[in-house]
Amino acid sequence: MAAILFLLLLASCHTILATQNQKAIVTGQINGTTADQVWPYIRDYCNLYLIFPSDNSFCTEGTDGKPGQIRFSTGKIPGTQPNSTFIFYTREILIKVDAKKRFLTYEFRENNIGVTFLRATMQVLPAKNGSTFKWTVVRAPVLGQTYEQFVQGLEGVVSGIVGLIQNLF
Ligand SMILES: *[C@@H]1O[C@H](CO)[C@@H](O)[C@H](O)[C@H]1NC(C)=O
Ligand SMILES: *[C@@H]1O[C@H](CO)[C@@H](O)[C@H](O)[C@H]1NC(C)=O
Ligand SMILES: *[C@@H]1O[C@H](CO)[C@@H](O)[C@H](O)[C@H]1NC(C)=O
Repeated sequence: MAAILFLLLLASCHTILATQNQKAIVTGQINGTTADQVWPYIRDYCNLYLIFPSDNSFCTEGTDGKPGQIRFSTGKIPGTQPNSTFIFYTREILIKVDAKKRFLTYEFRENNIGVTFLRATMQVLPAKNGSTFKWTVVRAPVLGQTYEQFVQGLEGVVSGIVGLIQNLF
């Protein structure tokens, strides 16, 4: 049985590699502010725009902070042509909130950025000099974007996030 399974896996290896989800974990340092001080801003699911660069967000359905709550985010990002901008939107659903471990998980639903699956967790952890913001993102590969471009994009956003959080204090 195991041998057959192995052969099947081997035979479909190319397909598996092409469609396998991509996972990235990106962190950023917030100096002089504790995880407990930062958590309320991460926890504030509907008002993500306070800490997320080029984003406008609001909730459209559900109960505050309860799984199932729907958030709508939109914003401007650089377009594919020089000096052009692109208005993106994503509809997201809150999956889980853990106040003890200070994280929340959400998933993309409809969007106009070609993402068929994305599940992300935002967490804040205590660190020596303040706290660490940790973003774990698992998504289906996006056509025309390499894994490195995916991670670079996340790194850009995280440096924006920690900067915006730092400015709140
Ligand atoms: C610690 O935080 C301060 C600001 O509060 C910052 O100037 C300094 O660079 C930080 N040091 C480290 C090692 O992160
Ligand atoms: C982009 O905008 C900048 C600043 O307005 C301008 O100097 C530059 O020529 C523009 N580039 C193109 C390709 O339009
Ligand atoms: C915190 O300090 C470190 C080390 O100096 C620095 O790399 C990082 O960018 C700082 N964080 C913020 C949000 O400014």
